[in-house]
Amino acid sequence: SGYISYDESYGNTGSCQSEITFINGEKGILRYRGYPIEDLAEHSSFLESTYLIIYGELPTQSQLDAFRNKVRDSAEVHVGMEHHFDGFPTGSHPMAILSAMLNSLGCYYPEMSTNNRQQDLESFDDAVAVLLSKVRTLAAMSYRMQVGKHFIYPKHKLRYSENFLHMMFSDPYQDYDDSSGLAHALDLFFLLHADHEQNCSTSTVRMVASGGANLFASVSAGVCALWGPLHGGANQAVIRMLQEIHDSGDDGRRFIESAKSGDAKLMGFGHRVYKNYDPRARILGKAAEKVLSAIGYEDDPLLNIARNLEQAALEDDYFVERKLYPNVDFYSGLILKAAGIPPEFFTVMFAIGRMPGWLANWHEVASDEKARIHRPRQVYQGPGVRDYVPIENR
Ligand code: CMC
Repeated sequence: SGYISYDESYGNTGSCQSEITFINGEKGILRYRGYPIEDLAEHSSFLESTYLIIYGELPTQSQLDAFRNKVRDSAEVHVGMEHHFDGFPTGSHPMAILSAMLNSLGCYYPEMSTNNRQQDLESFDDAVAVLLSKVRTLAAMSYRMQVGKHFIYPKHKLRYSENFLHMMFSDPYQDYDDSSGLAHALDLFFLLHADHEQNCSTSTVRMVASGGANLFASVSAGVCALWGPLHGGANQAVIRMLQEIHDSGDDGRRFIESAKSGDAKLMGFGHRVYKNYDPRARILGKAAEKVLSAIGYEDDPLLNIARNLEQAALEDDYFVERKLYPNVDFYSGLILKAAGIPPEFFTVMFAIGRMPGWLANWHEVASDEKARIHRPRQVYQGPGVRDYVPIENR
């Protein structure tokens, strides 16, 4: 019925109106609620920026304290959830576990996951604290399960990222020691991933929310969308690529040639929106240098290969013509690796960081009284009408 405009992969379709995040891909600009990412990276923390993204304004000290306390007090999960982990075979991918756990978490908070928009909106502040805090606890629990260790309970006195590292790496007989300041680097990593307008996972969250689904179900779908190697999985792919280049005895030059001939993809390079240096990559590149030197790895061979690749790509016509620059994932894996996070867990780290954006985008959809269910159309390319053929005549 009527003409349907087709925009392959939504390259030029505005799917919503939003007040949260601004990107200018040509100039390499990113702002949360109007604040430049560079300023937030320098002066803010993950939780403060999260408050900004979700509630629209930077918090006063008392608002921030109250928010921090609420998140802190929500860190523990119901003991029933510990048993959910028993149902997964060892070796299960932590993104599969995380998505399942976030959806299951809603069952423990039926009053926050009613699928009645008004009711879900009324409990939104509580659900925000539950999801922000427990996504970190559940992620750490899935790691402990994989390595065959007891779960470690959160500690009240620790800040957001410190508590995460504690739940990941402390042991009952010895607390995790963060003398190299990895919690600070991790907090920056989370902050830089907190929102990025209508990327694949956030659009998924909005799509699911548009049907009236609750926050827990919507963010669980977001985790699935994030999983793929072209989206959140790229940070893991970057480290794998750097390691393979290193193991093959290449300094990066051979790899650049195979990327140009289409035999390989330079993971961590290119972006649908940025046709300039991704501002997050610039910040993370510097942070990676700092973290690696703090732990005495300034000559880390993978960091050197990353530097070589970046240098070579920025000067090479293939990459220049296609406006391919490093994206957020190019350096983030080096920071995560330095923090002792295993590569198969990197995408989970992205999911923890992206939670504020998913929460804020869900709220924007749910609180829009005029919002209709998202229902794109298609351009049908299949056969025209056909006569049914009885099975014996096929
Ligand atoms: N290495 C080599 N060539 C590339 C790359 C790359 N990483 N990315 C794009 N190209 C080429 C591509 O082959 C195409 O060349 P041609 O015009 O000759 O056919 C041209 O550049 C345009 O690329 P495209 O695939 O049409 O661009 P897209 O907007 O569909 O894809 C992308 C964007 C990010 C999926 C893609 O650049 C890519 O696969 N990059 C590697 C994976 C990656 O780092 N993903 C993380 C993205 S940022 C974080 C996030 O959103 O999760």
